[in-house]
Amino acid sequence: MKKGYWKRKLKEFFLPPGNLYWMWVLEMGFSLKSFQGFFKNIVAVEPSKKLFDKINSKCSGKKFSLINKNFENFNTPKKFDFVLASYVIHYFKNPVFQLKRIKSMLKPGGKLLLISNMPDKGSYGKFYIKFKKMLFDKLDPCVYNTFPGFLRRSGFKFKKLKLKTHIRTPNKKGFLSMVELIFDIDQNKISKKIKDQMDDYLKKRFGNGPTTFDLYSVIFVCSKR
Ligand SMILES: C[S@@+](CC[C@H](N)C(=O)[O-])C[C@H]1O[C@@H](n2cnc3c(N)ncnc32)[C@H](O)[C@@H]1O
Repeated sequence: MKKGYWKRKLKEFFLPPGNLYWMWVLEMGFSLKSFQGFFKNIVAVEPSKKLFDKINSKCSGKKFSLINKNFENFNTPKKFDFVLASYVIHYFKNPVFQLKRIKSMLKPGGKLLLISNMPDKGSYGKFYIKFKKMLFDKLDPCVYNTFPGFLRRSGFKFKKLKLKTHIRTPNKKGFLSMVELIFDIDQNKISKKIKDQMDDYLKKRFGNGPTTFDLYSVIFVCSKR
């Protein structure tokens, strides 16, 4: 992804761009790398206590609210210009219901940006499907090719973009440390057998050196119909 990609895209999505900085943003499944540099007012909903604490300690002093909850249990009278759900909607058990709730939290003209990986494409997709099945005995009920139907049923219209990026880590250990985030699972809940298989999988492809996975994603830029 070229430097400045998101800044350019956000300006394109919010035409006329106005002043992005002052917009009210709701982000679910928070991550430090994301968009806080672009916006002053962010409300972030993150259910993982471990991630919440980590992010909270790094972000102290910055101006946003971090809420340690599932989105399903989050309510607010506030309305947002922009809702960001990046690699998170697939965790929802009732996506249409949650998408309708998101819609009700948007201001008129507000946008939802939904980003999802394409598990049937690329080396990251292969890794994801293989270990998702092993860890949970089933695949995500909600994947990128079911989103268009869910979005229509929730009253959104949308534009679809494709994005190819890479996930690179300096070594196998670096990648394994992201497994909790990738599968939303506590390290302690992963059996030794599966941990060993992941280790082998990475060793076969990358030895002990840097890991590079191709990540194919879809971005849905959604607004109320
Ligand atoms: C794969 S990570 C993506 C993190 C970040 N949005 C990004 O794009 O890098 C998924 C995140 O969604 C969070 N998450 C999982 N279930 C959620 C829910 N029901 N409501 C809100 N966030 C959730 C996880 O704790 C984790 O931070």
